[in-house]
Amino acid sequence: MRAVRFHEHGGPEVLTVDEVDDPDPEHGQVVVDVEAAGVNPVDTYFREGAYPVPHLPFIGGGDLAGTVAEVGEGVEQFAVGDRVFGTGLGNGMPGSYAEQAAAPADFLAHLPDEVGFDAGAALGTVGATAWQALVHHASAEPTEVVLVHGGSGGVGHVAVQLADTMGAYVHTTASPEYEAELEDLGADTVFDYARDDLEDAVTEAGGADVVVDLHMDQYLQFNADVVNAGGRVVGIGNDTAEGGFSDIGVTKGKEVQYQFMSMFNADDIGAVLAKVADLAAQGEMTPVVHETYGFEDAGEAQRAVLEDSFLGKLVLEP
Ligand SMILES: NC(=O)c1ccc[n+]([C@@H]2O[C@H](COP(=O)([O-])OP(=O)(O)OC[C@H]3O[C@@H](n4cnc5c(N)ncnc54)[C@H](OP(=O)(O)O)[C@@H]3O)[C@@H](O)[C@H]2O)c1
Repeated sequence: MRAVRFHEHGGPEVLTVDEVDDPDPEHGQVVVDVEAAGVNPVDTYFREGAYPVPHLPFIGGGDLAGTVAEVGEGVEQFAVGDRVFGTGLGNGMPGSYAEQAAAPADFLAHLPDEVGFDAGAALGTVGATAWQALVHHASAEPTEVVLVHGGSGGVGHVAVQLADTMGAYVHTTASPEYEAELEDLGADTVFDYARDDLEDAVTEAGGADVVVDLHMDQYLQFNADVVNAGGRVVGIGNDTAEGGFSDIGVTKGKEVQYQFMSMFNADDIGAVLAKVADLAAQGEMTPVVHETYGFEDAGEAQRAVLEDSFLGKLVLEP
């Protein structure tokens, strides 16, 4: 089969399309005929070597959608021919940028007929992350105000939809060209993230009870200042926080909870994906696929996911 691999760590140019052996399912795994693989920033961290891989060359990619081709021992919930989608590959095991991928069955969920393969592949990481942030960690409630930083991003645009469908009032920040589309997705207020008076604007608009932060390097103090008493801040992005806090005391006065999370730690990713799938089938969480690429353009897709501005997700098709 064809697979996108890196033989050494480095920039997007180290990705090559190689002919490799088809995978066999281990106990608890299924082999998926991959119809589409989602592209996420984390895919580039493994490629660069910032996150470890077990060996080189290595097949990258975490998200996929396709049909079950083979079922390993001990798997009860899937049968050959089932439409599935999943996330969590490429972390200690070969990834999803391949014509076939062996995936632990509990990293997968059934893909509803209403949801196409590209949308399913786009949904894994970002749907599970938004669910873990807003439902599991923040326990957001319908009467609350949720602020999603970076609403046009992969995580951001599904977090906006999830917060809206939970009944929350949704503030989001984004580049101004995405305002109308984000309102269509469920945002009540869209703030230009580059405006100088962003903190005053969010505060005047009611602050926030829950914040989902994709850019913790810039917004740790900002979050503390705009959040309401008893608020919860869930940090998902950046592993460094150069800005830090200048006045952490404000968080004590408001009893703010900070939770930093990794989707990889979800107790049961498949169960989370099954809930995300229900929302997708009902049209409550619709990933926007901005562009699809062939495997030979995987490097360009990984460059674009970090460098270009667009609303939604990038997807690879074999
Ligand atoms: N912890 C976890 O489990 C987890 C899970 C998923 C993702 N992540 C991390 O979360 C981050 C976002 O992931 P993603 O897939 O959503 O990435 P993405 O699709 O690249 O989206 C990033 C978004 O941030 C916006 N942005 C850029 N600068 C901003 C700023 N100063 N303020 C507010 N928004 C800004 C971008 O808008 P423009 O393009 O218009 O500038 C873009 O919409 C990445 O660092 C990723 O590694 C973590």
